[in-house]
This record gives sequence, structure tokens and C-alpha cells, in this order.
Amino acid sequence: MKQSNRLELTWIGKDNQPPQGAHFLVEDHNFSYNNTRQGAAEELTDNRLIYGDNLFALQALEPEFAGKIKCITIDPPYNTGSVFSHYGDSMEHGQWLSLMRNRLLLFYRLLHPQEGSLWVSIDDYEAPYLRIVLDEIFGRENFIAQNVWQKRYSRENRQAIGDVHEYVIVYARDPVRFKAIRNKVFPSSAQEKVYRNPNNDPRGRWRTIPLTAQEGHATAEQFYPVTTPAGKVFYPPKGRCWGISKATFEKLLAEGRIYFGKKGDAQPTMIRYLSEVDGYVPWTWWPHEEVGHTDEAKKEIHALFGKTDAFATPKPERLLRRILQIASNPGDWVLDSFAGSGTSGAVAHKMRRRWIMVERGEQCHTHIIPRLKKVIDGDDPGGITAAVQWSGGGGFRYFRLLQGPGT
Ligand SMILES: C[S@@+](CC[C@H](N)C(=O)[O-])C[C@H]1O[C@@H](n2cnc3c(N)ncnc32)[C@H](O)[C@@H]1O
Repeated sequence: MKQSNRLELTWIGKDNQPPQGAHFLVEDHNFSYNNTRQGAAEELTDNRLIYGDNLFALQALEPEFAGKIKCITIDPPYNTGSVFSHYGDSMEHGQWLSLMRNRLLLFYRLLHPQEGSLWVSIDDYEAPYLRIVLDEIFGRENFIAQNVWQKRYSRENRQAIGDVHEYVIVYARDPVRFKAIRNKVFPSSAQEKVYRNPNNDPRGRWRTIPLTAQEGHATAEQFYPVTTPAGKVFYPPKGRCWGISKATFEKLLAEGRIYFGKKGDAQPTMIRYLSEVDGYVPWTWWPHEEVGHTDEAKKEIHALFGKTDAFATPKPERLLRRILQIASNPGDWVLDSFAGSGTSGAVAHKMRRRWIMVERGEQCHTHIIPRLKKVIDGDDPGGITAAVQWSGGGGFRYFRLLQGPGT
């Protein structure tokens, strides 16, 4: 093994060259599908579904897609030692790291150099090792976040300490640019519930937000008496100031945006309308109320395919919606090379992103194709369909990997 001055993880086989390309993508029109009759998404017909090993698929995609993918989201086998009905999840530790490393190198090249980001689902078993390999390939300075997804809502009592979360690790090709272009997240329905309209305000649902701020950097402009409609006089509490100047306060008062409580005698607060909320800066805590849980994901799969032959480890559509919402915009290319039952493609399609999925198991035919056909035909009312007002349209092209001569 060669010596390096960088902090890095080593394992037997790390420096072995991965098998190299000369695989070609060949479209099989018998499996490609489109339904532009639905009208809504005619530009969304060039999506790609690739059946085969993702190492060769990613190599074959490179000439056309290097630097073009805005968001790569993967949910690889976590190497938990389990055997699921549709794929195995037990590899020697170093072999798993090599598998990931070889694909991460390709992801790096496929991502858009300024705006591309990688989102990896993983649990505690391999997460610490994967982080070090990710640091090595993407650069430690390009680490964005290790989001914690609350995958269970019920208690987990089988282990000494119940395991109720997984991670979604994020790296960007250019973190400064990423911060500038990433989208905020929508308020969840629980967050929206705090906005109410008890007085039938024609401007819609509203909530109050505090009018005071810490005194620290306050100017003289931020200390003034406020008289409520009931005649009570308020000054900012000790150690605090008003968050706005007197002139701004008076403007807001004239616009009916200062609230003094039901009886008009309470300390003033500011009114914020739901229609003005342009989203929240994403944070690393992803509770199940906001992005779903594993039970929800199973129910989504059962609704699509019934309970027999259900895919064992799907992700909930809302989780993928959160990722794609932050990291991409309609029309952008997104990629998932461990597609499983096709959740990422289904969500990407409904959100009007262009997608590439790779899957080497038979679930490519038993799950992904029927699922995406339903999405395209407008026959999948589940998951995020209603939330994003999806009604159908578009298509995908199906490819097999063909080995070139002499390989
Ligand atoms: C955890 S599952 C993904 C589940 C997916 N997120 C969903 O919502 O259904 C991982 C998938 O990766 C696939 N996979 C594993 N190694 C692969 C490889 N080298 N090439 C292509 N697919 C692979 C497995 O067959 C399995 O379907």
C-alpha cells in the first residue's frame, strides 16, 4: 500500500483498480415507456433506467453526463450482515469500502462542479468509515451535513439501546456555491398548524412572533413606550429592546400587523402570515413527522404492489422529497445508482426532475418499471402525489449494459 501524508483509512484491496469499462448502454425499446398523452410533463421523457451493475453503468454514463448531475442520492446496502429477499447485505468490511469508494470516485466526476451534491443514506454500522472515505474523495472541506433521520416512531426494544435513526450524509462539490443555490424546506403540516385565523383575517392564516430582541447591539431607536389599545403602556423587558425601530413599528401598526392579545392589553407581538413563509433553512434533524418513517415507506410499497413480494427496505417518498427539494430544481438531472424499488425515480418524476436510476436486481423489472409506469400514467395516488399535485405524464428509456469486444 502506498504511503500518504493525508489522514486516510486503509484496508486490504483499497488500491486494487476496479474493473474498467468498455460497457455500453443499449436501449431496449420493449421496456422503455412513455405517456405524453397525460400532457403535463412532455419534457420528462428522457429519463434513464439502467439494468445492471452500477460500476459499469456509471462508467458508461460518464461520457454523456460528467459534470451534469445536480443531485446524486443513494441508499446502498448498509452492510448489516442481513440477507433481504431482493438483495444481500453482507460483505467483508474492506470489500464494502472498496465497492463504495469505486462508485464515489465516479459520482464525484458526474456531479456538476459548482452545484452538484451527494446525499448518502447510511446507518451507524458503516457511517464513520464511510465519512473518512468521503472526506478523502470529496475533500473534508466539502462536507455539508450528517442529517439524522428518525426512521421509527414506535419504541425499539430489541437492543440494549434502541436504534431509531439513520443518517443522510451530504457533500457538495462547491460548498459556498451550494449554500447559495440550495433551496429552503417547506413548512410541514405540523408547522403550518400554528398559523391560524381566529379573526377571519382576509390575508389568511397567521401567527405571532416576538417583537423583542436582545439588547446587545441595540440603538436608541429601539427603546420606546408602546401603548396598547386598552391603554396599557409597555417598555421592552429588562435586558431586551424592541426588534424594530419606532418608525417601523408605527408602519406595521397602521397595516394591522401588531397584535396586542385578544383583549388588546398584552405585550405587542408581530403578525406573520403563512403566505409570507418562503421556507426554512434546512436543519440536520429530520423527524418522522416531516419526512416519513419506515412503516410509511412499507405502506407505500404495499399500496403499489400488494404485500406479497414486497420490497423489504424502501425509503418513504417524503424523505426523498426533502432531499430533492433542497438539492435540485425542476428539469435538473438526479441520479440514484442503488435504486431498489425505485422510490427516488418516482419522487423525482413527480417533482419534475429528470432522473437516472441503476439497479442490478430483478426488482428493476418487478418493482421499478411497474411503479414508474403508474407514476407516468397518473395511477399512483400515494406517496407525495397529492402534495406536489402530480397527475401524470412523461416517460423513461430502459437500457441494458452490453460488454464491448475484448473485455
Ligand atoms: C437499500 S436498497 C435501495 C432501496 C431504495 N432506496 C428504495 O426506496 O426502494 C439497495 C439496492 O441497491 C442494489 N444494488 C446493490 N449493489 C448494486 C450494484 N453494484 N449495482 C446496482 N445495484 C446495486 C440492490 O440490489 C438493492 O436493490
